Amino acid sequence: MATFWMLFFIFYFELLLKTGHCTETSGQVLSITPNTQEQVEVLRNVSTQYQTGLWKPASPHNIKELTQVHLYVPANSSETVRNLLQRHGITHEVMLSNADEIIEMQMRNESGDPRSGSTFYQRYHNLEDIYEWINRTAHENPTTVKAILIGSSYQKRPLYALKLSLNNKPNKKAMWIDCGIHAREWISPAFCLIFVQYSLSFYKLNSDITQILDNMDIYVLPVMNPDGYKYTWTKDRMWRKNRSPTNGTSCIGVDLNRNFDANWCTKGASPDPCSEIYCGAFPESEPESQAVANFLRSNKDIIQIYLTIHSYSQMLLIPYSCTMDEADNHSELYEMVKQAAENIRRYYRNVYTYGAGAKTIYLAPGGSDDWAHNLGIKYSFTFELQDRGRYGFLLPPSYIQGASNEALIALKTIALKVIEKTQPAAGSPQDV
Ligand code: ARG
Ligand code: ZN
Repeated sequence: MATFWMLFFIFYFELLLKTGHCTETSGQVLSITPNTQEQVEVLRNVSTQYQTGLWKPASPHNIKELTQVHLYVPANSSETVRNLLQRHGITHEVMLSNADEIIEMQMRNESGDPRSGSTFYQRYHNLEDIYEWINRTAHENPTTVKAILIGSSYQKRPLYALKLSLNNKPNKKAMWIDCGIHAREWISPAFCLIFVQYSLSFYKLNSDITQILDNMDIYVLPVMNPDGYKYTWTKDRMWRKNRSPTNGTSCIGVDLNRNFDANWCTKGASPDPCSEIYCGAFPESEPESQAVANFLRSNKDIIQIYLTIHSYSQMLLIPYSCTMDEADNHSELYEMVKQAAENIRRYYRNVYTYGAGAKTIYLAPGGSDDWAHNLGIKYSFTFELQDRGRYGFLLPPSYIQGASNEALIALKTIALKVIEKTQPAAGSPQDV
């Protein structure tokens, strides 16, 4: 018995050493609120000069007084960064103390270990598995699902959109949904997969999705930025942009959501290739944004709704993000996101903020939603899914279903409203 206790204490002591506070063994996510302009400058420096990852806001320029900053600090920069913060009297809270462990966990249950208990849709999937899923879904549903090749990425990976067409009604309108424009927002592709699966399984069972699919086809692009997504699985979990190089610098990647032709590269985007919000050399310079823009241009007469899925912060956004001006149909769109947020609160007791992008978050020109709106797809939305910062981009797999349910009810609320407004007779009793 004595040996047991001795072993126990040796083990416990080692554990203490490992988790001790002198040297961090894991990357952490800190929540820091600067109180003065000087502290703002210090934080901007920390996030650019040191090996850290800025989670929120997306760019150091958007750091401002009295607004929370979320910063990922890898273990090896922990001491330097903490000292610096302390020297300038900047207090912080540890949001996530074991970020690396969480990253590791989220990649591990990939292979579908039957003992892991969670099913395919409750896990995150690497790019190869998502391609396989796209293929399988199209093959298993030959009459209702088609995989459409809309282009390819910088590294020549195919961009497949799934077209869901559940009945043969002629002249149907359509909705477009894209996921994974930003690589590290893993909940986004996970939602696209769940949405397709839900549509195929619950058509004729759930009245909302039935009414939606009876009146419109839905195009789903599960991963708009496959090169970046692949990179988050292999090299850097916090990568945001695509992976295209720029001449004259070793910095890689363009922010695809700053690359569209909507007040392109004005305030809120950056011409610096090293920035997280680099707008690219010219509008649609990137094959990924060009592919989506081309597809929407060719189908703009049938596509009524544009929806793009991001994370995190729980927001339902409408145009504009590229200007402080209101969209021509602002009040109509505002009413829709308001109702969607109310439904999320009613059904899932979770809070989503809503409104025009520029006023709700920050000026962010060159976004796909604003561009689609200006193209004539008047019902244009960006959803920012869970959470509000606790796990941020590292949302655990056990939250995938809940986050997707919330997005699904918001999507349904909006799509049904659009159908009601634009196809008044559809689905109503006098129709039969
Ligand atoms: N967090 C998103 C981004 O920075 C917000 C997208 C809102 N829409 C927009 N067009 N910027 O890209
Ligand atoms: Zn995003």
